[in-house]
Amino acid sequence: TVRFVLDCDTGSDDAIAILAAAGHPGLELAAVTTVNGNVAVEHATDNTLRALDLAGARVPVHAGAARPLVRPDLPVPRAVLNKDSAFQKHGLGLPEAVSAAREGHAAPFLAAYFTDPAHAGDTLVATGPLTNIALALALEPRLVERIARLVVMGGAHGNGNVTAAAEFNFWADPEAAEAVLSAGLREVVIVPLDATHSAPLTGADCAALEALGTPGALASAQLVRHRLDHDRASASHDPSSPVHDPMCVAYLVRPDLFTEAVAAHVAVETAGARTTGQLLVDTRPWRDEPANATVALRAAPEVYREFLHEALG
Ligand code: BDR
Ligand code: CA
Repeated sequence: TVRFVLDCDTGSDDAIAILAAAGHPGLELAAVTTVNGNVAVEHATDNTLRALDLAGARVPVHAGAARPLVRPDLPVPRAVLNKDSAFQKHGLGLPEAVSAAREGHAAPFLAAYFTDPAHAGDTLVATGPLTNIALALALEPRLVERIARLVVMGGAHGNGNVTAAAEFNFWADPEAAEAVLSAGLREVVIVPLDATHSAPLTGADCAALEALGTPGALASAQLVRHRLDHDRASASHDPSSPVHDPMCVAYLVRPDLFTEAVAAHVAVETAGARTTGQLLVDTRPWRDEPANATVALRAAPEVYREFLHEALG
């Protein structure tokens, strides 16, 4: 089995990532840390606990950063950004949690977890802004050697989703994203919008999940339906929605998920007038810097579906 820690800002697609992680026989979710992003960190923590309880998973949860690394807050208030913030703030339609978060901030937890020799070889998956991970690296610089692999949902090689240049997770905390990507970690895999938008889910996927009938599948189907209804307003055809975060988890057991990927030198813009939070994917053969990440560019929808069925069924 692949053992990993998930750092997330739950969020509806983060919740599906948690449900899938808890259900897949090839995965061991060792801990979850939460961060300010989609919702304020206390809501991300509450949503995380709800998803874990629903899945019947006893996994330690540590709450982390309440604001970005350097900036006082998100560049645009959440309520302006996200018309769906009430749903995200009030539990995502999941039953109330009975379990509670552990004592201790996420960043020192991550530092201690990944310096423990018993956890050599574990993966860190990040599906929110990278604030906690930047803080953990600042606290414990040896993490660059100790984290065997970091898989990140963030960035876009083509257009972003918050601005033309920037995807939400990197836009929400560009300094943290830049600090983490430039830290010199052993293995970094980036799952940007290019990959997640290439395998969106549809109403037929929801029906197939519902047919599985498990609590995790039913909850996931409801969350995807919610995303579809939300995206329907802008859709001119049968709606489909990218369900970003579970792809990072899927990749751990289905490395065949990504059908196109490039090794590149990646960096995040922190000072652009129009481009703050942009992921730069430098594949020029004559560039000065060596590759520091693998960037997934396309995913196989059928592999993603197979993963979701195996994880949620
Ligand atoms: C990312 O932003 C969040 O809204 C999602 O959970 C995902 O992690 C996509 O841009
Ligand atoms: Ca997320």
